[in-house]
Amino acid sequence: MSKIKVGFLGLGNRGRCMLTTIVKCFENVEIVAVCDPYIERAEEGVEIVRVFGKYEPAMTLNSDEVIARDDIDVVMIFTSWEAHVDLAVQAMRAGKKVAMEVGGAYSLHDCNRLIDAYHETGIHVMMLENACYCDTELAVLKMVREGLFGEIVHCEGGYMHDLRDEVAGGNKNKHYRLRNYLNRNCENYPTHEFGPIAKVLNINHGNRILSLSSFASKARGLKEFVNSHAEDYPELVGRDFRQGDIITTVITCADGATVVLNLDTTLPRTYSRKFTVRGTKGSFYEDMNSVYIDEPGAHERDAKSYWDSAKEYVKKYRHPLWDKYEEIARTSGHDGVDFMVLGAFFESVEKGVTPPIDIYDTVTWMAITPLSEKSIALGGAPVDFPDFTGGKWILPREKSDLEFTLDW
Ligand SMILES: NC(=O)c1ccc[n+]([C@@H]2O[C@H](COP(=O)([O-])OP(=O)(O)OC[C@H]3O[C@@H](n4cnc5c(N)ncnc54)[C@H](O)[C@@H]3O)[C@@H](O)[C@H]2O)c1
Repeated sequence: MSKIKVGFLGLGNRGRCMLTTIVKCFENVEIVAVCDPYIERAEEGVEIVRVFGKYEPAMTLNSDEVIARDDIDVVMIFTSWEAHVDLAVQAMRAGKKVAMEVGGAYSLHDCNRLIDAYHETGIHVMMLENACYCDTELAVLKMVREGLFGEIVHCEGGYMHDLRDEVAGGNKNKHYRLRNYLNRNCENYPTHEFGPIAKVLNINHGNRILSLSSFASKARGLKEFVNSHAEDYPELVGRDFRQGDIITTVITCADGATVVLNLDTTLPRTYSRKFTVRGTKGSFYEDMNSVYIDEPGAHERDAKSYWDSAKEYVKKYRHPLWDKYEEIARTSGHDGVDFMVLGAFFESVEKGVTPPIDIYDTVTWMAITPLSEKSIALGGAPVDFPDFTGGKWILPREKSDLEFTLDW
C-alpha cells in the first residue's frame, strides 16, 4: 500500500511534538511538505523529518502552496486557533482530507462553513481530540456501554490547567492564547473535557445538545500574575484581561441528561479534566480516580475510602488498543494519547472511511465556544444549540470496524 502523503501546517510547540511522533512511529506516512510563517519554525520542521525520518520534506512559509500541491492526500493543521477553519475549508475544497488540532470556533458561521464544505465535497475532517483516547476515558466509556453505571444522568468535565505563564508569555513566545485572553470571555477550550463526555452521552447518535448557559467569574488571576512578575511581562502590567478566571457552562441534552463544564486556566491549581460520570447505578470520578457502585451500605462510606478504586475497573474494561500499542504509544506525547489519536486518523484515511471523531462531532464540540461567549454576554441566559446533523442525530450509532474505534 502506498504511503499517506501529508502536508503539515503549523510548527509551534504542538506541531513539532506531533510531527516528531508521526515521523518516529508511523512508517505508512510520508511528510511531503511542512509550513509555518515563521521561517525558524518551518526549518525546525524540516530538521525533525531529516533527523527522525532520514528524508527531506519541502518547506514553505505559505500554507496556500501546501494545500495546492497535487502530491499530498491529507492536510494536518496544528496552527493557532484562528487559522483552523479557514485552512480546513480550503483543504477540503482542494480535495484533501483534514486532521485538525483542538480548539473552539469563533462563530457558528465558522461551524456551518465546515459543515457546508463537507456536504459539498464529502471530504472527512477529524478533530485530533486526544483526550478521547486516554486509557481511563476509553475504559469508562466501556463501563457506560456495559451498563455498570445504569442510565447516565449527569456528567462533568473541565479544562483545569494553570496556564498563567503560557498566556502571559504570549508576546515572547509568539503564542495565540494571549490575544484571546485579552479580548474574549468564553469557554475557549471545551473539547478536552466535552469530547469524552459526548461519546458517553451519544451526542449526535440518539442524543443532542439542546441548550447551554455559561457564567464567567471576574478576571483577576492573570492581572495579579503579570503585576507580580513585572520584569518578565512589562508590556502587560496594568492591562485588564477579558477572560474570566473560571467559566462554568451548563448544558442540557435531548435525553434529559445535564453536563457541567469548567474552564479554569488562570488561577493557581493542579491539572485536572475532572471527568465525572453519574448514573442510576454508580459513578466515576476522575479527581479521586474512583468508581462507586450502588451496593448495600456503600452510601455510608466516606468518599475518600474509594480513592483509587477505579484502578481495577480500568484494567478490566481496558480498550484492546492500549494492550496492543502501549509501548510505542508511551513514547509519544501526553502519556501516549497523541499516538492513539494519530493512529485513529491515519487508519480512517487508509480505509477511506468516516473517522471516529467526525465532522459533526468536531463542529458540535467547537460550537460550545461561541455559544458560551454569547451566553456570558447575556448574563448567563440559555442559548439554543443548533442541530448540525440536520435531524440525523436521532439515528443510532453504527457499529464500527475500526481498530481505533471510539464506538465500542
Ligand atoms: N491536543 C493537545 O493535547 C494539544 C496540546 C497543545 C496544543 N494543542 C493545540 O495545538 C494547536 C497549536 O498550539 P501551539 O501551542 O503549538 O501554538 P503555537 O502558537 O506555539 O503554534 C502555532 C503555530 O501555527 C503557525 N501558523 C499560524 N497560521 C498558520 C498557517 N496559515 N499556516 C501554517 N502555520 C500557521 C504559527 O506561526 C505558529 O508557529 C492549537 O490548536 C492548540 O489548541 C493541542
